[in-house]
Amino acid sequence: MKIEEVKSTAKTQRISVHTHIKGLGLDENGMAIQFAAGLVGQEKAREAAGIVVDMIRTKKMSGRAILFAGPPGTGKTAIALAIAQELGNKVPFCPMVGSEVYSSEIKKTEVLMENFRRAIGLRIKETKEVYEGEVTELSPVETENPMGGYGKTVSHVVIGLKTAKGTKQLKLDPLIYESLQKEKVEVGDVIYIEANSGAVKRQGRSDNYATEFDLEAEEYVPLPKGDVHKKKEVIQDVTLHDLDVANAKPQGGQDIMSMMGQLMKPKKTEITDKLRKEINKVVNKYIDQGIAELVPGVLFIDEVHMLDIETFTYLHRALETAIAPIVIFATNRGKCVIRGTQDIVSSHGIPLDLLDRLLIIKTLPYSRPEIEQIIKLRATTEGLQLEDEALTLLSELGTQTTLRYVVQLLTPAALAGKINGRTSILKEDIEEVKSLFLDAKSSAKILSQQKDRFME
Ligand SMILES: Nc1ncnc2c1ncn2[C@@H]1O[C@H](COP(=O)(O)OP(=O)(O)O)[C@@H](O)[C@H]1O
Ligand SMILES: [Mg+2]
Repeated sequence: MKIEEVKSTAKTQRISVHTHIKGLGLDENGMAIQFAAGLVGQEKAREAAGIVVDMIRTKKMSGRAILFAGPPGTGKTAIALAIAQELGNKVPFCPMVGSEVYSSEIKKTEVLMENFRRAIGLRIKETKEVYEGEVTELSPVETENPMGGYGKTVSHVVIGLKTAKGTKQLKLDPLIYESLQKEKVEVGDVIYIEANSGAVKRQGRSDNYATEFDLEAEEYVPLPKGDVHKKKEVIQDVTLHDLDVANAKPQGGQDIMSMMGQLMKPKKTEITDKLRKEINKVVNKYIDQGIAELVPGVLFIDEVHMLDIETFTYLHRALETAIAPIVIFATNRGKCVIRGTQDIVSSHGIPLDLLDRLLIIKTLPYSRPEIEQIIKLRATTEGLQLEDEALTLLSELGTQTTLRYVVQLLTPAALAGKINGRTSILKEDIEEVKSLFLDAKSSAKILSQQKDRFME
């Protein structure tokens, strides 16, 4: 008997150009500090974002939607990611780009629904019977392989657990030995073993070993109080999508998670609407019983003008359902045709009825000193040395093009400097890469000047 815990399916984000951002940088009154937590300027938008964070925390926001609107490179994506940082890792934040819905393999609405459910968290509290303590002994007992041959197999494993109150020696099934190995449990670790399922959870290294020589960062935990064998409240944070995935495969066991699996026993690994409905039903039941708590998170859809009328309609309907996340959109479009329609023009390319329920946060172009601050900050984050003249040139370029363009020029400029045998970036390096890599505006200008040479 073995339980596969529900694995997190959180997306690994590619946010390398935003790594300097650590939060919204607000003071205790919610006012933006000019330069804090990696953010510079854009005070109004940051303060508005702070209010959104408060509303999410107090759960006043679910089913609502926010739109960041502003020219390219004004920090829309940056501020959205800062919101994620402020919310912490217990509140799900699922980022996606509008164009992600176009795939030849998966339906557009399916992509949307999957991300929608990635943004809804569930905190499950269970009281479980566990054996908990610091491992004092861990010895597998081997026997001759009953199938013959020279090999040996583990027949059982003997484990000693110590708490502040006492010690206990347990004789365990070899299957549990496997999970002990998977969690890399060693003598001196604090662990607990669920009595029903045999699932092993390593909590950290015991305080008693805190002085030992150790290269890796370890988390040290105190010796557990109470008896080794006890009831313990175990909290698990999952998203609805985690549950969908876990239950799309048949599994076994006796705790809540696997009972959910047993309820449906689907044969395919595909996540169907039916499966989702069943999961919602069970989830609602657990919420009513007070076992689980809903944690509405954030679905962030960048470049939202890439969605078409069909996906907008679907999204709007999904927002009306009882279990919905907060949706944050971002776009740099003004008035444009809604995708998938012939000629319906709307602000930001968003249908009117959806637009009507949005709270809109504007982002404005940066001033020259702000651009300079941000470039400096990026250079430090990337570990690059920027000469004053180079910084001046870059900031000037930033006012003519976009912030994103100049931020992106930093890396090639550093390379150009390196090729010329330098460790810092000079003005001439910027000039060199600037002539090699065009920004969108200059590129468009060349296109229109030399129209006849390009294919239509
Ligand atoms: N206020 C800010 N403070 C610090 N860095 C910023 C700020 N605004 C934008 N950036 C950085 O500038 C670059 C472009 O911003 P981005 O958020 O991608 O713009 P947008 O999404 O509006 O097009 C990114 O590297 C971003 O991290
Ligand atoms: Mg963006």
